[in-house]
Order: sequence, then C-alpha cells, then structure tokens
Amino acid sequence: MTELARIGVTGLSVMGRNLARNLARHGHVVAVHNRTENRTKELIEEFGHEGAFVPAQTAAEFVAAIARPRKIIVMVTAGDPTDRVIDELTPLLDPGDMIIDGGNANVAETIRREEALREKGLHFVGAGISGGEEGALHGPSIMPGGSAEAYAEIGPILEGIAARVDGRPCCTHVGPDGAGHFVKTVHNGIEYADMQLIAEAYDLLRKATNLVPDDIAEVFAGWNEGRLASYLVEITAEVLGQVDAETGRPFVDVVMDRAEQKGTGRWTVQAALDLGTPVPGIAEAVFARTLSGQTELRAAARELPGPPPGAREASRALVEDIEKALYASKIVVYAQGFHQIATASAEFGWKVDLGAMARIWRGGCIIRARFLDRIWSAYNADPDLPTLLTDEYFREALTDAQKAWRRVVSTATWLGIPVPGLSSALAYYDGLRAQRLPAALIQGQRDYFGAHGYRRVDRAGTYHTAWSGNRGESPS
Ligand code: 6PG
Repeated sequence: MTELARIGVTGLSVMGRNLARNLARHGHVVAVHNRTENRTKELIEEFGHEGAFVPAQTAAEFVAAIARPRKIIVMVTAGDPTDRVIDELTPLLDPGDMIIDGGNANVAETIRREEALREKGLHFVGAGISGGEEGALHGPSIMPGGSAEAYAEIGPILEGIAARVDGRPCCTHVGPDGAGHFVKTVHNGIEYADMQLIAEAYDLLRKATNLVPDDIAEVFAGWNEGRLASYLVEITAEVLGQVDAETGRPFVDVVMDRAEQKGTGRWTVQAALDLGTPVPGIAEAVFARTLSGQTELRAAARELPGPPPGAREASRALVEDIEKALYASKIVVYAQGFHQIATASAEFGWKVDLGAMARIWRGGCIIRARFLDRIWSAYNADPDLPTLLTDEYFREALTDAQKAWRRVVSTATWLGIPVPGLSSALAYYDGLRAQRLPAALIQGQRDYFGAHGYRRVDRAGTYHTAWSGNRGESPS
C-alpha cells in the first residue's frame, strides 16, 4: 500500500502545481488532485520525478490518501469555486482536519468559512501566499490565519517551504480567522501603490528629461543598488530594458497603456473605507488603473488643453529629486498599509504583530524590499507606533526628502504630468502634520445645513449654532 500523504493540494493550475512541487521537493509525500484529471496527469508526467506525489482522481480518493489530521491546501479561484471545493471536501473529512485556502480570498468570506468549518470541528486556515509562480515553487512569503492549534500543525510545513531571509522563514502565524487573508489583501494594496509610484517616476523621467527607456532602465538598476532596492524596482529595470523583437521599439512603447486588475487592490480600499482608515495612496493606485482603462473617456478628453510641453532637461538633479520623492512616497504608502492592518487588528481582535509582517515580507513576496528591515526595526522598537512616519529613521528620511519631493510634485504639475501617487502621498504627509485642518469649516457647514453639531476646542460637549435664527449657540 502506498504511504499516506503528509499533505494534499487540490487545484493544480500553475500556483497549486508549483506549491505541490515545492512541498514534494522538501521531502513531503503530497496528494494531488484537480477537478479535471488532465492537470493531475500532466503534473505527474512532467514533475513526478521531483518527489513523492500521490495522484487522486476523485475527492474521496484524495481525502483517503492523506494522513490524519489531514492538511489540504486549496488553490482555486476565489469566490464560488472555493466554496464548491470546501462543500465537496467537508463531508469526507474528520474532526481536526484542516483546509488551507491559499488563494487571494476576500476577508469576509474567510471569516464566514472559518466559522462554518469550526462548527463542524474542522480547521480553516486562510493563508495569503505571495510571490507568483516562481515564489510558489522556490519559496513564497506565506501569511496564514486561523487558530493557533491549526498553526501548530501546518506552520512547520509552511515555514519549511517559505522563502528565507537571514535564516528565518518568511512565514508566521498572523492571527485568528481572517487575519492572514486580510494582511495579504493589504500586501496587494501596497503592491498596487508601489507599482503606481514607480510608474509615475518612470513617466516623469520619460517626459521631463531626455532619457530614453534604456537609460531609465539604468536609472532603476542603479536605484536598486541603494535604499530603494526591491523586487519591483529590479523588474522595472528589466521591463524598461526590454526591446520588442518584432518592431525593435522599446517593449514599454508597444504595450497598450491600460492596466488591469483582479481586485485585491480594490478590496483593500473597500476594507479601508469600512474601517475608516485613510489609504489614499492605495486608492489612487486603484483609480489610476481604472482611469487608464477608460478608453472612451480618455479619447473624449484628449484635446483638453494643458501646459505647452516643457523643455526637456538632461537633469541629474531631477533624477536625484525623483529618487527622493519616490522613497518618501513609498514610506508613506507603506505607513498607510501598516496603519490599516493595525486598525483592523484592533477592530477584529487579531493582535497582528506588525513587525513580524514586515519581517515575512522581506523575502518571497512581490513587495519584498530592503527597507522592510527598517519597518521591522521600527515596530520592534515600539510595537504601538501610531504611524511609521514618526519613527526616527523614517522621520529623517522624510525630512531629507522634503524639498525634492515638493519640487517633483510641482514640476509634474507645471508640466501637466499626472502624479496621483506622489502628490497624494505628499498631501497625506502634510495632512497628518498640519496643526489645524480645514475640517473645522466642514463641521461648520454641516451644522449650518443639517444641525449636525460640532465640538469646540475650548470646552467639552457638542454644540449647535442657530444659523437661520439669532446665531446663538446652544448645546446639542
Ligand atoms: C502576489 C500577487 C498576486 C496578485 C497578482 C495580480 O502577491 O503574488 O499580489 O497575488 O494576484 O500580482 O494582481 P492584479 O491582477 O490585481 O494586479
């Protein structure tokens, strides 16, 4: 009789297949299953030699092939397909077994599924997995949620296949129920914002200087040697250096300028709206993608006037300014994302260790970056830091970037180059540090038309002014 599998993977499209291979390469016996059998066959034919796989044709066969307590990783499309797989597996499982959803699920669905399975004596682990297909195969960053009991079982296996930085795995127990998927959602929101900021930096370099994509690729490659070192900056240099084989033109010039999205950035913003946490950098990044896709609207607006094209400069100074603006804005959007996680953690009682999130994002995931070390240290020094912006290191970096950041945003504005990410990051920074915000006027307006009341700076209580009467004030 074949040895029972230590773990099972169902859903063998590229992410699931690579995760199964990663597990097998680490010496685990892995049961594999897919709704359509072909994928299972292909996996065994192509990669069967990499380790011990137990192919299963039906869900019943698959479940029977796994040792108890069973650990089953589900890698299918988010939404209904995930529910269908869970519904099929559940009656076949025994108490204590666990289902690990490794897809990008919406946190509300994860919370619902965890509760439903818990009532049946089963564990449900919503695990964010980042790193694309390469990461899944060679070591992703893994963000598992769910009970501590489930983590005790599945954690060592996941830590074993995750990326490692300085000898430590990029995987840790994030917190109960939806915590893991929530953190992954915010990871993706930050990913959108980081990509948008990089794209704006490229756009400025392209339109405000005489650099061509090949030169800009070198600029990014150079930045990747410094404090901006990150996977996204590294691949930006690669993409900008690419030449289209057919036309000989820069690759970036033959691709349609319409950015697509699968929805995780949007989820981050929706969650932020519900939580009342400002993440304008992430929201701008989502909207910038949406705007880019509005072909008809853009065609209708193309003739609107703007400033005359400015003189292009071969400006080293501008390149340096853009590096600073990019770094400062990047700090701001990461600060927004971490603040959102902190808010959700407090609201849902997850007790997420923010420093540990920065630590497990240092390798394997799409937003892996050198400066995550700084975020990790900042939260180690003060786990209750209200915002990363006030940490000493970041405060100094922002102080140093100030003038350059403002010059870049104003240069872009004068030239008519849209920089929603860079400028909203600066506005957030200025908004937070403002001694007084015009919100007081808004309170006055609200009280004027709706008697909504306001609080005074000099005494407790809520007040209303009789705007249409004698304009006297009374407690409300
Ligand atoms: C990751 C990525 C991944 C995401 C894709 C596509 O962490 O590996 O975030 O989960 O799905 O990058 O995202 P969009 O299609 O929404 O850009």
